[in-house]
Amino acid sequence: MTKPVILTGIRANNDLHIGNYFGAMLPTIEMAKKHTDGCQVNLFIPDLHSFTTPIDHDNLQDQIMHNARLFVASGLPLDNDDILIYRQSYVPAHSELTWILDCFTGMGEMSRMTQFKDKSKQVEATPDEHVKEVSRELFDGGKSTLMLDKLSQERVTVGLFNYPVLMACDILLYGAQYVPVGDDQSQHLEFTRDIAGRMNKKFDNVFTVPYEVSKQHEFFGKGQGLRIMDLADPTKKMSKSADSDKGVIFLTDEPDVAAKKIMSATTDDLANVSYNPIEQPGVSNLLQILALLRGQPLDEVEADCKGQSNYGEFKRMVADEMTNFLTAFQAKLADVDDTAIHSAFKRSEARANEQANRTLHRVQQAVGLRSKD
Ligand code: ADP
Ligand code: TRP
Repeated sequence: MTKPVILTGIRANNDLHIGNYFGAMLPTIEMAKKHTDGCQVNLFIPDLHSFTTPIDHDNLQDQIMHNARLFVASGLPLDNDDILIYRQSYVPAHSELTWILDCFTGMGEMSRMTQFKDKSKQVEATPDEHVKEVSRELFDGGKSTLMLDKLSQERVTVGLFNYPVLMACDILLYGAQYVPVGDDQSQHLEFTRDIAGRMNKKFDNVFTVPYEVSKQHEFFGKGQGLRIMDLADPTKKMSKSADSDKGVIFLTDEPDVAAKKIMSATTDDLANVSYNPIEQPGVSNLLQILALLRGQPLDEVEADCKGQSNYGEFKRMVADEMTNFLTAFQAKLADVDDTAIHSAFKRSEARANEQANRTLHRVQQAVGLRSKD
């Protein structure tokens, strides 16, 4: 009997911040450790998804290795046979199955994906240097905004459009039923269930269908969905695409730079530390961060600090914890052995290819590309 598969991918587009760490990376690694007795856990880097929006291609290899190191520094075991860590593009079946499923996917259903709508707006709003350059060369010194708009639309690629099909293949190739993702990815998971169901109906049960989003939440027990807020503007989520780095703590920030960001975090004039995200979003965010750094429940940390009126002292306490956390984390990061990562990639990618090719072959047979015997 094969083990149930839990699978998730974390993109390697940018440096990760403490929101990514506490909200996605750490829970994924903890889940991997917890479930390996009864499950196979696939944690992969969706490198083919990396350039669905413009990136610096010269940096991609470094970024992929950097993210793999972050996983290891966060505690991902590399020596467990049931934990696979691999790069999507090293398993060519992902691309092959994508083409096949593209031909069974409606333009309409892709156009309705909210991430496509949001990200295409972002791409259009920030024409990259190439677009500006071409525009300068071809048109009136780059002043023609109409032309610039048209070229920017060209940057909204077919890759961004059918991103969810590739994501569906990432999941279906391994028969993964459990897929922990943030709310922003729920629609893609529903699409994965739709396309799998459609193929199963048309052909002979080729795919295992992942569980619906509510069942995923039951399994992973994450009703609350952590949201660390920007330190400078605590009404906004901490995000790598924030306009300024002032309110974002990256895992590679110098500890004293991070401490300064905390000391200048926006608070309020109530002079009373308490957890109240509506009235006191800044202070509440700092309490939440403190709880995560200490690995303590939020209500305990709140009880510890409640009523403190000197925000300077309160911030100093959070800043000190942050300094300790980053110092220890960065020491672990510096100790990560790249050769261990390369051999984990090699072992995992061989196994991933075997499993994925088996599914691909079944689909190729179903659609008539391979004979059935
Ligand atoms: P960003 O907004 O920084 O670009 P992504 O959209 O790439 O982040 O998210 C990667 C993962 O990190 C997702 O699973 C997301 O839920 C999680 N995440 C991102 N920002 C936060 C945050 N501020 N708090 C908690 N989790 C977050
Ligand atoms: N789309 C996910 C994101 O942007 C990353 C991803 C790619 C993924 N393929 C996946 C997540 C398969 C889960 C399963 O965060």
